[in-house]
Amino acid sequence: MKNDSAIPSPELIEQAAAHLRRARHVCVLSGAGISAESGIPTFRDAQEGLWAQYSPLDLATPEGFERDPELVWRWYEWRREMIRAAHPNPGHVALAQLAQQVPRLTLVTQNVDGLHQRAGSPHVLEYHGNILRDRCTVEQVVAERSEDSRRSALPRCAACGGLLRPDVVWFGETIPRRALVEADEAAADCDAFLSIGTSSLVYPAAGLAEAALRRGVPVIEVNPNPTDLSPHADIVLQGPAGRVVPALRQVLTEGVGR
Ligand code: OAD
Repeated sequence: MKNDSAIPSPELIEQAAAHLRRARHVCVLSGAGISAESGIPTFRDAQEGLWAQYSPLDLATPEGFERDPELVWRWYEWRREMIRAAHPNPGHVALAQLAQQVPRLTLVTQNVDGLHQRAGSPHVLEYHGNILRDRCTVEQVVAERSEDSRRSALPRCAACGGLLRPDVVWFGETIPRRALVEADEAAADCDAFLSIGTSSLVYPAAGLAEAALRRGVPVIEVNPNPTDLSPHADIVLQGPAGRVVPALRQVLTEGVGR
C-alpha cells in the first residue's frame, strides 16, 4: 500500500533526531526515492511511455550497449533531458542543510542525477556514477566530446576518437573504487546511519546499512513503503523524503543546545 503523503509522528521524528544529535559521524545512503519528488521515476516504477517496452537490463548493461549503442544513447539522452529539467526537492535541500548541523556527514548516493550537488551537498560519493558525464570506452576516463560528434547519436572522445558512454555503473559492473572505499570507511566509522529512498535491494550499496547494523549503530530509514531493511532498522520514518527530511532537520535545528 503506497503511503505517500502521511508523515511520522513528532515523537518518532524526535527519536531519530536524538540519534543524529548525539552522532559524531552520520553516514547517509540515498536512493531513487529522494529524487521521486523531483519528478524522476524510481527504478522500480514502471519505465514510462516510449521506454516502457525496454527493461533497464536491456539498456543499462555493457551487453546492451555492445548490442545497440545508439538505442542505449537515446535512452540516456532522454533521461538526461528529464534530469536537466528537474530541480532538487525539499528532501535534497534539507539533507544538504542537515550536513551543517552534525560534526561530520558522509553522503553516499546510488543516484546518478547530480541533484544532491545542485542542492548544495558538499561532498557526494557517487556510488553509481553520474549520468551527465561522458566516459571514453577506450581510455576508461571521463572525457569531452569531439567537436564534430557533439550532436551525434554516437558521441566520440575528443582525445582519442573512441566511442563515449555515460559515466554510470551498469548492471554487473564494479563500483568506482574511491566511492566504494570511502563508503565502506564511513559505514565502519559512523555512529548513526540514515537510509533515504532506497529499496535496499541492490548490493553492494545495500550492504552499507547492514555493516552499520552489525556494529550496533542506530539505523534510521526514510521511505513511504516498507523495504527489506525496515524490519531491522531502529527507526522507520514512513513517509516521503521531501516532507520527512525537512521535518528531521527542523527538529535538529530547534533542538540545538539540548
Ligand atoms: P528503487 O526504485 O529500487 O527504490 C526506490 C525506493 O524509493 C522505494 O523503496 C520506494 O518506496 C522509495 N520511494 C518512492 N518515493 C519516495 C519518496 N517520495 N521519498 C522516499 N522514498 C521514496 O531505487 P533504488 O533503491 O535507488 O542501480 O535502486 C538502487 C539501484 O537499483 C539503482 O541505483 C540502480 C538500480 O539498479 C544502478 O543503476 C547500478
